[in-house]
Amino acid sequence: MIKIAPSLLAADSARLGEAAAALEKAGADLLHFDVMDGHFVPNLTFGPQILKHIKKYTSLLIDVHLMVTNPLEVIPWYAEAGADFITFHLEATDKPEKAIKLIKKYGIKAGITLRPDSDIKQICPYLSLVDMVLVMAVNPGFCGQRFREDTPDKIRFVNEYRSTRNILIEVDGGINKDNARICVQAGADILVAGTSVFADDKYAENIKLLRG
Ligand code: DX5
Ligand code: ZN
Repeated sequence: MIKIAPSLLAADSARLGEAAAALEKAGADLLHFDVMDGHFVPNLTFGPQILKHIKKYTSLLIDVHLMVTNPLEVIPWYAEAGADFITFHLEATDKPEKAIKLIKKYGIKAGITLRPDSDIKQICPYLSLVDMVLVMAVNPGFCGQRFREDTPDKIRFVNEYRSTRNILIEVDGGINKDNARICVQAGADILVAGTSVFADDKYAENIKLLRG
C-alpha cells in the first residue's frame, strides 16, 4: 500500500510537536522533515535540535530531506538527532558515494534526489547504493507549489531502472488527491504532502483521500 509522509513544513511551526502527534494518530506512515539552509534554497527551516524534540511526540519514522549546500557536514547532525531516512541533493555534493556511506554508517536509510530541472538520469550510477530515490515534483524551497506535469515520467523512469522494489520511490511537491493516483500508477511508494494534508484540521480524512 502507498505510504503517506506529511511534510511538517506546512504545519504551524510553533506547534510542531502537536502536529507530529496528531499526524501519527491520523494514520501517517512517516514524517517528512524539510531541512533548508537559506543557501541551497531561499528558505530556512529546521535544525537538528527541533528533530530531537519532535521525537518525544511521535514514534513515526522521520524522513529528513536535506536542502543544504553541505550535506557531508550536516548528515551527522540529523543522524544523531534521530533521523530514520536521510535524503540529500546530488547537486549539493561532488562526493555522493561518501554521503551515502556516511548515512548508512549510522544505520539509517539513504536517499538521493535532484531539483526538477536536473536530469533524472544522474541518479543512475548511485541507484544500487541507495534505499530511496526522491523525485521532486516542485522546485525545492516552499510548500504550496504546483505539481509539475513531467513528474510521472520521471517516476516511471526510476521505476523501470530500479532492479528491485527494495529501492523506494518517494515523490515530493504539490501532491493532492487528483495527482496521487497518477504517481502511484507510475511506481511511487511514498507520497510526501504538505498543503493537502494541512488544508484543514481533518488530517485523517486528508491522508485517506491521498491513499485513493
Ligand atoms: C519543498 C519541500 C516539500 C514541501 C511539500 O521544498 O521539499 O516537502 O513541503 O509541500 P507541498 O505538498 O505543499 O508541496
Ligand atoms: Zn521535502
